[in-house]
Amino acid sequence: MNLQEEIGKLKAKNDVAILAHYYVDGEVQDIADYVGDSYYLSKIATEISQKTILFCGVKFMGESAKILNPEKRVIMVDDTADCPMAHMIDEETIQNIKAKYDDIAVVCYINSSAEIKAHSDVCVTSSNALKIVSKLPQKNILFIPDNHLGTYLSTKMPNKNFVFHHGYCPVHQDIRMEDVKRAKQEHPESEVLAHPECSIDVLSLAHFIGSTSEIIDYATKSEGHSFIIATEDGVLHQLRNKNPNKIFYLVNEKQQCLGMKLNTLEKVYQILNSMENEMILNEDLRQKAQAPLTKMHELAK
Ligand code: 13P
Ligand code: SF4
Repeated sequence: MNLQEEIGKLKAKNDVAILAHYYVDGEVQDIADYVGDSYYLSKIATEISQKTILFCGVKFMGESAKILNPEKRVIMVDDTADCPMAHMIDEETIQNIKAKYDDIAVVCYINSSAEIKAHSDVCVTSSNALKIVSKLPQKNILFIPDNHLGTYLSTKMPNKNFVFHHGYCPVHQDIRMEDVKRAKQEHPESEVLAHPECSIDVLSLAHFIGSTSEIIDYATKSEGHSFIIATEDGVLHQLRNKNPNKIFYLVNEKQQCLGMKLNTLEKVYQILNSMENEMILNEDLRQKAQAPLTKMHELAK
């Protein structure tokens, strides 16, 4: 059986659009209708005509698609695929910090659960955070849950007073400054391209900092010939496809997101057959979580 062909037939029969993040395996990206970073995927989910979205990613991505498209069916390739950072703060902590300030905006990275979004003023992704936070009237910004992205943003907006939380991405946190220094020594001709979920030490060694799609764009347009990649290894698929004559090195051997790698071609086929793993959200929670996502899309324009 040719899985790719069978997936194509089932997709058409069930009126499904497949959305995939750059961190899933290359063979899964290849059968998707839309591949992109978190912002692109949340936007395209509102623009497609198919009645069902099959998400190859982690829970917060499918959840965001459902929050923004209550009338669509959203199904997950693997409903255990999750992002640990999405749960690294809770409602009580948010309320306790908010109570200390008269004027504070709760800015929530899209890598967060619907419950966290429901207690936030606006969502951001790594590609639009700078633009959105700089448009907010509040001086005080509670940035949750990612401490590294928050710290990076604070260096770009010295006029704002950032309050951080200690959330982090385990994959990016494990990209250490010593590893990057070693990679630079081994490949002195290469530019370092880093995701802002990396620590500020690592970012200080980077030539370019951006979201997954921004890293792919930068490397594709660059006249450079080789690059050290400080993000999850799934991006190598598009980097190499778009740049067959360029060389890409990873910083270490641990740049793999466990949740993202649960999305396999075999599971895509099985789920298109069973149409299981539907994302179900409580309507009150969905509406509360919709407001910050909608605000993100307005402010990102
Ligand atoms: P992007 O928005 O850059 O795709 O990042 C998503 C993510 O999960 C990074 O770890
Ligand atoms: Fe979450 Fe990190 Fe995986 Fe991104 S790479 S989904 S932040 S665990």
